[in-house]
Amino acid sequence: MNASLEGKVGLVTGAAIGIGRSVALEMASAGAIVMVSDVDERGGEETVREILDSGGTASFTRCDVSVAEECANLVASTVGAYGTLDLAVNNAGSGGAAATTGEYDPAEWRRVVGINLDGVFHCMHFELPAMLNAGGGAIVNVASVLGLVGWPQASAYVAAKHGVIGLTKAAALEYAGRNIRIAAVNPGFIEGGHLAEAGITSGSEMHAFLTGKHAMKRLGTHAEVAKAVVWMLSDEASFVTGASLSVDGGYTAS
Ligand SMILES: NC(=O)c1ccc[n+]([C@@H]2O[C@H](COP(=O)([O-])OP(=O)(O)OC[C@H]3O[C@@H](n4cnc5c(N)ncnc54)[C@H](O)[C@@H]3O)[C@@H](O)[C@H]2O)c1
Repeated sequence: MNASLEGKVGLVTGAAIGIGRSVALEMASAGAIVMVSDVDERGGEETVREILDSGGTASFTRCDVSVAEECANLVASTVGAYGTLDLAVNNAGSGGAAATTGEYDPAEWRRVVGINLDGVFHCMHFELPAMLNAGGGAIVNVASVLGLVGWPQASAYVAAKHGVIGLTKAAALEYAGRNIRIAAVNPGFIEGGHLAEAGITSGSEMHAFLTGKHAMKRLGTHAEVAKAVVWMLSDEASFVTGASLSVDGGYTAS
């Protein structure tokens, strides 16, 4: 069974690379028109090009999710370009510095929470009225397994991701009677991307440590997360709201 998003208009934040790009491509292949967004214009345009090359419809709007006005502009641009907003994936995120809480730089804390938690709030704040105008919609917020369990030297990120799951539940209750479903996805550690950039590839000690955290003894792929997100956006998930789905190879099962 393939989830269909045929005829829907959706936006994805942080879609220049990684999970966000994979979600944008998967949404387009399920039939959605996609507004790709990121602070990285070059990567975002590359995502758009990949969608256009495969016969889909997409365009790019730059948006720093930590700035409320830019999120307002992203939603307005999407509605301006395509007439409505049915779907949103609030994916933009950043890991931040590694330090114990007692030594965590308050400015870095604000930056990390500003992107990972304020960013999701800013986006939803403008997406929800647009979806009410459209008569309904579906939102998936990208949290993390670190929204469910702790991780040392990452208190800002861990706190923000726990916050995303709480925000998802609160908003889901508010909009459940108004035809808008809101859910979160909790990816485990994903192969490639910024892990690879940090030298965490197969054969390294850290890679072996991370794979050992997952019951399936491997890391996930961007596509595995994207497929779950598209399912949650689709009518196949019509009774799913306020939930967070762990796509984590069993990381949080123990
Ligand atoms: N990769 C993993 O192992 C993993 C695991 C669990 C959760 N996640 C979450 O998944 C999401 C995507 O992660 P990823 O691994 O693809 O990351 P990534 O670093 O590969 O991509 C993140 C994207 O977000 C963009 N971005 C950063 N700050 C932004 C801002 N202020 N406004 C708009 N865009 C911004 C970046 O430019 C980048 O394109 C994040 O929310 C991350 O926390 C990732």
